[in-house]
Amino acid sequence: MTFLFNSDLQRGAVFREAFARELPHMPFAIGPGTASPADIRHIITWSVPEALEQYRNLEILFSVGAGIDQFPLTAIPPGVKVVRMVEDGIIRMMQEYVTLAVLALHRNVPAYLDLQRNREWRPLPQKQAADRRVGLLGLGVLGRAVLESLRPFGFRLSGWSRSAKMIEGVATYSGNAGLSQMLGETDILVCLLPLTDATRGILNREVFAQLPKGAGLVHAGRGAQLDSHALLTALDAGQLAGAVIDVAEPEPLPGDHALWAHPKVLLTPHVAGVTQADTAARAVIDNIKRYEAGLDLVGLVDRTRGY
Ligand code: NAP
Ligand code: GLV
Repeated sequence: MTFLFNSDLQRGAVFREAFARELPHMPFAIGPGTASPADIRHIITWSVPEALEQYRNLEILFSVGAGIDQFPLTAIPPGVKVVRMVEDGIIRMMQEYVTLAVLALHRNVPAYLDLQRNREWRPLPQKQAADRRVGLLGLGVLGRAVLESLRPFGFRLSGWSRSAKMIEGVATYSGNAGLSQMLGETDILVCLLPLTDATRGILNREVFAQLPKGAGLVHAGRGAQLDSHALLTALDAGQLAGAVIDVAEPEPLPGDHALWAHPKVLLTPHVAGVTQADTAARAVIDNIKRYEAGLDLVGLVDRTRGY
């Protein structure tokens, strides 16, 4: 009943120590080839290891990250449970990142950086937070945590999800009609959706056109959700005033891509929420204990939904 760790060695050392302490009955291996595949019950990995069929007693495939779009779900035997990463480190970092990004757009940081480059000392009109409407695409673990971080500033908050939700103090929407309604009332749009067939390319010309003129975008979902050409067109036309982009397609973003140098874009290299070894080990260990106790797994992927 071995646990196979298939990611970077630094994180592996933290996991090994935590497993030895918390799950001493479970043999722990780092890297494929260090244990007999037939002995392996659980794997944590970013991408599916080669020759997955050799792990014939595999029970749980844990993703190192919150997203599981890198897993070819149809190639994973149906009996294997796929589990995404739900851990405090990613959540905290995403709260920081989106709060920073929303405040940057709210306080005109892209425009002020441009003015600074031009040595121009010129205050811009400033709305109050209570007059700024922030809309989240995705009300899952990260979307809801981000809402809590934004709350104290007094922004008007809304959110869109696949299934209908009720969240106190947040206007919630679902379905296509709900999306259009929310977009029409959103000054800063934040994407925290998983990448699925339904969300690929969702940040497109039609969506940008439905936002009020001068809106902002924060994208921390997945690169393939964004039509970057449509974004650049919307920024150049003034339909969007600024964008904070953490994810791109492809990654790394090629050096000659127009996003790098656009004055209205703040770009970061997929660092919004990074898995933290100590809290991730805690989360995986807790999940294995839940599994051994016959309880539901936290972050279990519904293969029919794709997230
Ligand atoms: P989650 O808990 O599974 O939440 C996903 C949310 O998206 C849910 O509210 C879900 O609706 C909604 N959703 C999914 N498909 C939808 C659709 N077709 N239409 C409307 N809403 C839809 O996921 P999470 O943990 O919050 O993570 C979200 C994503 O963030 C990850 O999948 C990953 O891609 C991204 N991420 C990025 C970074 C980074 O560093 N940039 C770090 C971590 C994660 P329901 O509530 O109705 O199910
Ligand atoms: C990072 O993007 C993750 O999915 O955790």
